[in-house]
Amino acid sequence: MDYVRVEREDGVAVLTIDRQEKLNALDRQVVEEIGQSLLELEADEPRAIVVTGAGERSFIAGADIRVMSVMDPLEAKRFSEIGHAAMALLDRSPVPTIAAVNGFALGGGCEVAVACDVRIAAENATFGFPEVGLGILPGMGGTQRLPRLIGPALAKELIFTGRRIGAEEARQMGLVNRVVPQGGALDAAKELAAEISANGPLAVRHAKAAANRALDVDLISGLEYEADQFALLFATEDAREGMGAFVEKRKPKFEGR
Ligand code: COA
Repeated sequence: MDYVRVEREDGVAVLTIDRQEKLNALDRQVVEEIGQSLLELEADEPRAIVVTGAGERSFIAGADIRVMSVMDPLEAKRFSEIGHAAMALLDRSPVPTIAAVNGFALGGGCEVAVACDVRIAAENATFGFPEVGLGILPGMGGTQRLPRLIGPALAKELIFTGRRIGAEEARQMGLVNRVVPQGGALDAAKELAAEISANGPLAVRHAKAAANRALDVDLISGLEYEADQFALLFATEDAREGMGAFVEKRKPKFEGR
């Protein structure tokens, strides 16, 4: 891989997009490497995945405009589909995904962040969907995931204006979970990953699947799914251990079984 590296620390995977000379902009190869890395990670079964951009300035400054500027419609469709596949591997990943947004998260960069389960932003982070200013629209899931995340009115305002917003405004909109001092996003994301990792890994996985289902189906169907996932966990050793530890007044030791 040329532009994506994955490091493992205490069961947490950190995926770093590193194309700093272009502020980590996404061309087809970068998107494919993100997808490939996430596929490989699924076999690895980390407890959580943190996604970040290399360098001090940028998370991801968007899809590569130079590359897109010469695409024909079929190439654009393929680029969008490859992007969709990679983003789906983030939000459908069996484990929690956390974006550590260390700088520019524009266009495709914002779409990567929005495809994650949680976003932690450094105070210098900048968010926005500048696509309409380029005569195009967000093509890696932004028009679909942003309204689901922050509601249609704010999402449409951001997408129609292309306006850039800072980390604090993004937090107020619900686009970002938390703002931390400049340079601190990755550590804060790792801390959150560690907090999640202390819990039953199967419980977290099934909880994520259930919460994802809430975005796809009506309430009754979602509740049925939740009851099934709830019941399924009672077949695990982790559930016996977790509840047993409470009864025995000790800390649980989860094995992920
Ligand atoms: N696509 C392609 N190249 C990009 C890029 C993108 N989305 N974002 C940054 N780059 C490149 C620049 O072209 C420049 O390359 P060069 O040195 O070969 O000219 C390099 O990254 C550094 O960017 P630069 O513009 O010089 O930095 P800056 O600090 O002046 O501005 C930004 C930073 C992010 C404000 C500016 O690069 C920008 O507006 N980028 C495009 C953002 C965007 O519209 N993204 C959505 C695309 S759908």
